[in-house]
Amino acid sequence: MARASAGSNGARLRGLVQRHGTPLVAISRSAIRMQLNRFRRALPRVEPFYAVKANPHPDILKVLVSGGAGFDVASLAEMTAAIEAGAGPERIIFANTIKPARSIAAIGGGFPITHFDGEEDVFEKIAKIIMREIERLFDRKVRIIAEPGRFIAGPAATLIMRVIGKAIRENKHWYYLDDGVYGDLSGIIFDHAQYEFKVLRSGRSQLSTLAGPTCDSLDIIARGQDLPELEIGDIVYVERVGAYSTATATAFNGIAPAKIVMVA
Ligand SMILES: Cc1ncc(COP(=O)(O)O)c(C=O)c1O
Repeated sequence: MARASAGSNGARLRGLVQRHGTPLVAISRSAIRMQLNRFRRALPRVEPFYAVKANPHPDILKVLVSGGAGFDVASLAEMTAAIEAGAGPERIIFANTIKPARSIAAIGGGFPITHFDGEEDVFEKIAKIIMREIERLFDRKVRIIAEPGRFIAGPAATLIMRVIGKAIRENKHWYYLDDGVYGDLSGIIFDHAQYEFKVLRSGRSQLSTLAGPTCDSLDIIARGQDLPELEIGDIVYVERVGAYSTATATAFNGIAPAKIVMVA
Protein backbone atom coordinates (compact mmCIF):
# COMPACT_ATOMS: atom_id res chain seq x y z
CA MET A 1 0.00 0.00 0.00
CA ALA A 2 1.20 3.49 -0.71
CA ARG A 3 1.36 6.05 2.02
CA ALA A 4 1.82 9.78 2.10
CA SER A 5 4.82 10.91 4.09
CA ALA A 6 6.21 14.33 4.81
CA GLY A 7 8.39 16.10 7.36
CA SER A 8 12.16 16.01 7.49
CA ASN A 9 12.35 12.84 5.40
CA GLY A 10 10.45 14.69 2.67
CA ALA A 11 12.91 17.58 2.76
CA ARG A 12 15.85 15.16 2.61
CA LEU A 13 14.39 13.32 -0.38
CA ARG A 14 13.59 16.57 -2.22
CA GLY A 15 17.17 17.75 -1.56
CA LEU A 16 18.61 14.55 -3.02
CA VAL A 17 16.38 14.82 -6.08
CA GLN A 18 17.35 18.44 -6.61
CA ARG A 19 21.02 17.47 -6.52
CA HIS A 20 20.98 14.23 -8.46
CA GLY A 21 17.68 13.94 -10.37
CA THR A 22 15.68 10.72 -10.62
CA PRO A 23 15.55 7.79 -10.68
CA LEU A 24 17.98 7.71 -7.78
CA VAL A 25 19.09 5.06 -5.31
CA ALA A 26 20.49 6.45 -2.07
CA ILE A 27 22.48 3.88 -0.11
CA SER A 28 23.14 4.58 3.55
CA ARG A 29 26.56 3.62 4.90
CA SER A 30 25.34 3.81 8.50
CA ALA A 31 22.42 1.47 7.74
CA ILE A 32 24.86 -1.13 6.41
CA ARG A 33 27.03 -0.81 9.55
CA MET A 34 23.91 -1.06 11.69
CA GLN A 35 22.74 -4.30 10.02
CA LEU A 36 26.22 -5.82 10.38
CA ASN A 37 26.27 -4.95 14.09
CA ARG A 38 22.74 -6.27 14.53
CA PHE A 39 23.77 -9.55 12.91
CA ARG A 40 26.79 -9.92 15.18
CA ARG A 41 24.85 -9.05 18.32
CA ALA A 42 22.12 -11.60 17.56
CA LEU A 43 24.43 -14.36 16.27
CA PRO A 44 27.66 -13.94 18.22
CA ARG A 45 29.07 -17.32 17.18
CA VAL A 46 28.32 -16.85 13.48
CA GLU A 47 30.74 -14.99 11.19
CA PRO A 48 28.92 -12.98 8.51
CA PHE A 49 30.12 -13.44 4.93
CA TYR A 50 28.14 -10.89 2.92
CA ALA A 51 26.50 -12.43 -0.18
CA VAL A 52 27.83 -10.01 -2.79
CA LYS A 53 25.07 -10.93 -5.26
CA ALA A 54 22.54 -9.00 -3.17
CA ASN A 55 24.24 -5.73 -4.08
CA PRO A 56 27.84 -5.61 -5.37
CA HIS A 57 28.18 -1.81 -5.20
CA PRO A 58 31.89 -1.15 -4.43
CA ASP A 59 31.09 1.30 -1.63
CA ILE A 60 28.91 -1.27 0.14
CA LEU A 61 31.81 -3.73 -0.08
CA LYS A 62 34.22 -1.11 1.30
CA VAL A 63 31.97 -0.36 4.28
CA LEU A 64 31.85 -4.09 5.01
CA VAL A 65 35.63 -4.51 4.61
CA SER A 66 36.15 -1.77 7.18
CA GLY A 67 33.59 -3.48 9.42
CA GLY A 68 35.60 -6.73 9.28
CA ALA A 69 32.99 -8.78 7.42
CA GLY A 70 33.76 -11.66 5.07
CA PHE A 71 32.36 -12.08 1.57
CA ASP A 72 30.42 -14.86 -0.13
CA VAL A 73 31.08 -14.62 -3.86
CA ALA A 74 29.38 -16.52 -6.67
CA SER A 75 31.71 -15.73 -9.57
CA LEU A 76 35.16 -14.54 -10.49
CA ALA A 77 33.79 -11.03 -11.06
CA GLU A 78 32.39 -10.89 -7.52
CA MET A 79 35.65 -12.26 -6.14
CA THR A 80 37.58 -9.52 -7.94
CA ALA A 81 35.15 -6.89 -6.63
CA ALA A 82 35.67 -8.08 -3.05
CA ILE A 83 39.46 -8.07 -3.45
CA GLU A 84 39.38 -4.61 -5.04
CA ALA A 85 37.32 -3.38 -2.08
CA GLY A 86 40.16 -4.50 0.18
CA ALA A 87 39.11 -7.97 1.35
CA GLY A 88 41.94 -10.46 1.81
CA PRO A 89 41.47 -13.96 0.32
CA GLU A 90 41.00 -15.38 3.84
CA ARG A 91 37.83 -13.31 4.08
CA ILE A 92 36.26 -14.65 0.88
CA ILE A 93 34.30 -17.86 0.33
CA PHE A 94 33.36 -19.03 -3.13
CA ALA A 95 30.05 -20.63 -2.24
CA ASN A 96 28.29 -20.97 -5.59
CA THR A 97 27.83 -24.72 -6.11
CA ILE A 98 27.86 -24.26 -9.91
CA LYS A 99 31.34 -23.00 -10.62
CA PRO A 100 33.23 -23.12 -13.91
CA ALA A 101 36.70 -24.70 -13.58
CA ARG A 102 38.30 -21.47 -14.79
CA SER A 103 36.78 -19.54 -11.88
CA ILE A 104 37.81 -22.19 -9.35
CA ALA A 105 41.35 -22.01 -10.69
CA ALA A 106 41.51 -18.26 -9.95
CA ILE A 107 41.11 -19.56 -6.06
CA GLY A 108 19.01 -19.33 -0.94
CA GLY A 109 17.23 -17.69 0.79
CA GLY A 110 18.70 -16.19 3.95
CA PHE A 111 17.86 -13.86 6.74
CA PRO A 112 14.65 -11.91 6.14
CA ILE A 113 14.04 -8.16 6.17
CA THR A 114 10.81 -6.20 6.26
CA HIS A 115 9.47 -4.18 3.33
CA PHE A 116 6.45 -2.53 4.95
CA ASP A 117 6.22 -0.12 7.89
CA GLY A 118 4.75 -1.92 10.89
CA GLU A 119 5.63 -5.37 9.56
CA GLU A 120 7.06 -7.63 12.28
CA ASP A 121 10.84 -7.88 12.04
CA VAL A 122 11.58 -11.48 13.00
CA PHE A 123 15.37 -11.52 12.60
CA GLU A 124 16.23 -11.52 16.31
CA LYS A 125 13.62 -14.25 16.95
CA ILE A 126 15.14 -16.45 14.23
CA ALA A 127 18.66 -15.68 15.48
CA LYS A 128 17.73 -16.79 19.00
CA ILE A 129 16.61 -20.18 17.70
CA ILE A 130 19.73 -20.52 15.53
CA MET A 131 21.99 -19.66 18.48
CA ARG A 132 20.20 -22.17 20.72
CA GLU A 133 20.70 -24.91 18.11
CA ILE A 134 24.33 -23.93 17.51
CA GLU A 135 25.04 -24.20 21.24
CA ARG A 136 23.19 -27.52 21.38
CA LEU A 137 24.79 -29.16 18.34
CA PHE A 138 28.27 -27.76 17.91
CA ASP A 139 31.36 -27.74 20.01
CA ARG A 140 32.87 -24.28 20.67
CA LYS A 141 35.81 -25.22 18.43
CA VAL A 142 33.54 -25.39 15.37
CA ARG A 143 33.74 -22.28 13.21
CA ILE A 144 30.34 -21.19 11.93
CA ILE A 145 29.73 -18.78 9.08
CA ALA A 146 26.63 -17.41 7.35
CA GLU A 147 26.09 -15.62 4.04
CA PRO A 148 23.61 -12.80 4.66
CA GLY A 149 22.88 -10.72 1.57
CA ARG A 150 19.53 -8.98 1.78
CA PHE A 151 19.84 -8.57 5.54
CA ILE A 152 22.90 -6.36 5.12
CA ALA A 153 22.10 -4.45 1.92
CA GLY A 154 18.29 -4.48 1.85
CA PRO A 155 17.45 -1.88 4.51
CA ALA A 156 20.23 0.47 3.38
CA ALA A 157 18.79 1.87 0.15
CA THR A 158 15.93 4.13 -0.86
CA LEU A 159 14.77 4.34 -4.47
CA ILE A 160 13.42 7.75 -5.39
CA MET A 161 11.37 8.06 -8.57
CA ARG A 162 9.20 10.67 -10.23
CA VAL A 163 5.89 10.53 -12.05
CA ILE A 164 6.57 11.03 -15.76
CA GLY A 165 3.10 10.29 -17.12
CA LYS A 166 -0.48 9.76 -15.99
CA ALA A 167 -3.63 8.36 -17.51
CA ILE A 168 -7.10 7.25 -16.50
CA ARG A 169 -7.89 3.69 -17.48
CA GLU A 170 -11.12 1.95 -16.52
CA ASN A 171 -11.80 4.77 -14.05
CA LYS A 172 -8.49 4.30 -12.29
CA HIS A 173 -5.46 6.51 -12.19
CA TRP A 174 -2.33 5.07 -13.73
CA TYR A 175 0.97 6.73 -12.93
CA TYR A 176 4.05 6.06 -15.04
CA LEU A 177 7.30 6.35 -13.10
CA ASP A 178 10.85 6.84 -14.35
CA ASP A 179 11.92 3.43 -12.98
CA GLY A 180 10.20 0.06 -13.11
CA VAL A 181 10.47 -3.72 -13.08
CA TYR A 182 13.12 -3.75 -15.80
CA GLY A 183 15.18 -1.31 -13.73
CA ASP A 184 15.70 -0.96 -10.00
CA LEU A 185 12.37 -2.60 -9.13
CA SER A 186 13.53 -5.79 -10.86
CA GLY A 187 13.24 -7.53 -7.47
CA ILE A 188 9.49 -7.66 -8.08
CA ILE A 189 10.24 -10.17 -10.85
CA PHE A 190 13.47 -11.87 -9.77
CA ASP A 191 13.04 -11.81 -5.98
CA HIS A 192 9.22 -11.86 -5.80
CA ALA A 193 9.58 -8.76 -3.66
CA GLN A 194 6.66 -6.59 -2.62
CA TYR A 195 7.36 -3.00 -1.72
CA GLU A 196 5.67 -0.14 0.07
CA PHE A 197 5.33 2.86 -2.24
CA LYS A 198 5.31 6.25 -0.53
CA VAL A 199 4.60 9.73 -1.80
CA LEU A 200 5.20 13.20 -0.42
CA ARG A 201 1.84 14.62 -1.50
CA SER A 202 -1.18 14.20 0.77
CA GLY A 203 -4.88 14.25 -0.11
CA ARG A 204 -7.88 12.02 -0.58
CA SER A 205 -6.62 8.64 -1.71
CA GLN A 206 -7.90 6.52 -4.54
CA LEU A 207 -6.91 3.11 -5.86
CA SER A 208 -4.19 3.63 -8.43
CA THR A 209 -1.76 1.65 -10.55
CA LEU A 210 1.99 2.33 -10.78
CA ALA A 211 3.80 1.37 -13.98
CA GLY A 212 7.35 1.71 -15.26
CA PRO A 213 8.73 3.66 -18.21
CA THR A 214 9.29 0.88 -20.77
CA CYS A 215 5.87 0.63 -22.51
CA ASP A 216 6.04 -3.12 -21.95
CA SER A 217 2.95 -4.81 -20.52
CA LEU A 218 5.11 -6.59 -17.92
CA ASP A 219 6.27 -3.26 -16.53
CA ILE A 220 3.42 -2.87 -14.06
CA ILE A 221 4.94 -2.10 -10.68
CA ALA A 222 1.91 -2.28 -8.39
CA ARG A 223 -1.87 -2.25 -8.64
CA GLY A 224 -4.45 -1.26 -6.02
CA GLN A 225 -2.24 1.38 -4.38
CA ASP A 226 -4.02 3.87 -2.11
CA LEU A 227 -2.64 7.16 -3.43
CA PRO A 228 -3.66 10.81 -3.47
CA GLU A 229 -3.91 12.24 -6.97
CA LEU A 230 -0.35 12.71 -8.19
CA GLU A 231 0.97 15.17 -10.74
CA ILE A 232 3.79 14.87 -13.26
CA GLY A 233 7.06 15.43 -11.41
CA ASP A 234 5.78 14.15 -8.04
CA ILE A 235 8.12 11.94 -6.04
CA VAL A 236 7.30 8.28 -5.36
CA TYR A 237 9.79 6.42 -3.21
CA VAL A 238 10.49 2.96 -1.83
CA GLU A 239 12.59 2.21 1.24
CA ARG A 240 14.54 -0.97 2.04
CA VAL A 241 15.24 -1.63 -1.63
CA GLY A 242 18.98 -2.33 -1.38
CA ALA A 243 19.03 -6.04 -2.22
CA TYR A 244 18.31 -7.68 -5.57
CA SER A 245 17.35 -4.30 -7.06
CA THR A 246 20.26 -2.37 -8.59
CA ALA A 247 22.06 -5.74 -8.83
CA THR A 248 19.51 -7.09 -11.30
CA ALA A 249 18.47 -3.86 -13.06
CA THR A 250 18.67 -3.80 -16.86
CA ALA A 251 18.80 -1.00 -19.42
CA PHE A 252 15.90 -2.48 -21.42
CA ASN A 253 14.45 0.04 -23.92
CA GLY A 254 17.67 1.99 -23.54
CA ILE A 255 16.46 3.31 -20.18
CA ALA A 256 19.42 3.31 -17.81
CA PRO A 257 18.95 2.15 -14.21
CA ALA A 258 18.97 4.74 -11.42
CA LYS A 259 21.99 6.78 -10.48
CA ILE A 260 23.41 5.47 -7.19
CA VAL A 261 24.70 7.77 -4.46
CA MET A 262 26.12 6.92 -1.07
CA VAL A 263 24.79 8.90 1.87
CA ALA A 264 25.71 8.90 5.53
C1 LIG B 1 24.67 -19.46 -1.94
C2 LIG B 1 23.94 -18.24 -1.47
N1 LIG B 1 24.34 -17.63 -0.32
C3 LIG B 1 23.71 -16.53 0.14
C4 LIG B 1 22.64 -15.98 -0.54
C5 LIG B 1 22.02 -14.72 0.02
O1 LIG B 1 20.70 -14.85 0.36
P1 LIG B 1 19.97 -13.62 1.09
O2 LIG B 1 20.22 -12.42 0.26
O3 LIG B 1 18.53 -13.99 1.10
O4 LIG B 1 20.57 -13.50 2.45
C6 LIG B 1 22.18 -16.57 -1.72
C7 LIG B 1 21.04 -16.00 -2.46
O5 LIG B 1 20.63 -16.39 -3.53
C8 LIG B 1 22.85 -17.72 -2.21
O6 LIG B 1 22.48 -18.32 -3.36
